[in-house]
Amino acid sequence: MHKRKYIISFVAILLIGGALYAGNQGNHQAEQQEQQTLIKNKSALSKPEDKQGTPVNQNQSSQTTKPSNTNDTSNNKDTSNNKDTSKSKDTSKSNNPSKSKDTSNNKVTTPASPGKTTSFVNSYKVEHVVAEPKSHTVLVNKTYRLPEGYVPPDLVYPNVPFTFVEKVDKRKMRKVAAGALEKLFAGAKRDGVMLAGVSGYRSESRQTTLYNNYVKRDGVKAADTYSARPGHSEHQTGLTIDVAGSNGKCAAESCFAGTKEAKWLSKHAHEYGFIIRYPSGKDAITGYKYEPWHLRYVGNEIAKTVTTKQITLEQYFGNTVEVSR
Ligand code: DAL
Ligand code: ZN
Repeated sequence: MHKRKYIISFVAILLIGGALYAGNQGNHQAEQQEQQTLIKNKSALSKPEDKQGTPVNQNQSSQTTKPSNTNDTSNNKDTSNNKDTSKSKDTSKSNNPSKSKDTSNNKVTTPASPGKTTSFVNSYKVEHVVAEPKSHTVLVNKTYRLPEGYVPPDLVYPNVPFTFVEKVDKRKMRKVAAGALEKLFAGAKRDGVMLAGVSGYRSESRQTTLYNNYVKRDGVKAADTYSARPGHSEHQTGLTIDVAGSNGKCAAESCFAGTKEAKWLSKHAHEYGFIIRYPSGKDAITGYKYEPWHLRYVGNEIAKTVTTKQITLEQYFGNTVEVSR
């Protein structure tokens, strides 16, 4: 009788042990999958000397872009790049993503092999031209630029208020983004948040003028923390807009952070297909300091993923960007 009891207990222990082992394996697989994704993402914008950092289907080139000297001052004053560089002081801190306090960031950027520190380098050291500049999900940053002289198709005037009255280029956006922006403004209004556009589409020559002026004023190093070089600005895609409160206060300035408009945008922008493209504390990945006003249209699905996972577009795309050069 006792013997039978022992046998039953033994079999039960074996079964429970087996089940526990299988469960653990599942977790390990999930971890491994995540780890593989991390490695893939990590390599996307890693140092040029890191062979793993070569984006897929691409030859590495090591050109440094120089802003051209076109002086287009025909447009009205553009306030979309802020003067306050005080917030950019901690960029060196975030250069080692593994030390970041932001755990979600840690998750995505912690080097896979312990002891081997690999930091993202989204600088102008390596430059590629995106193969699909017209894509609504195009990645444009310091590494990936638009083809020279690119002008997006289907630019329209979104029917939303702006902080200025002139009917100029910077009111424009691509059709899909303009439609989404109108819905976003309406949604904000329903919640008692009155928004206004500050700066949408910018031509390459307009960006050249702006960037050169910032360099004159603040020097290259500082300008590069808040202004894109020509060909590298998301504003040139027509999928991006800087927004402010309808009173225009703190428009594209660091004091916009923490306003009720900024809070609303950070909570709801993704519901309309937009992301806050340059989040706080991600300077080392995006290449820019925090811009709570800079909205980028990427479509609902990507916007939701990027926002809920608290990652950047760089991390979302990893090394999957197709380039022509
Ligand atoms: N302020 C952003 C980075 C731009 O110039 O496009
Ligand atoms: Zn912007």
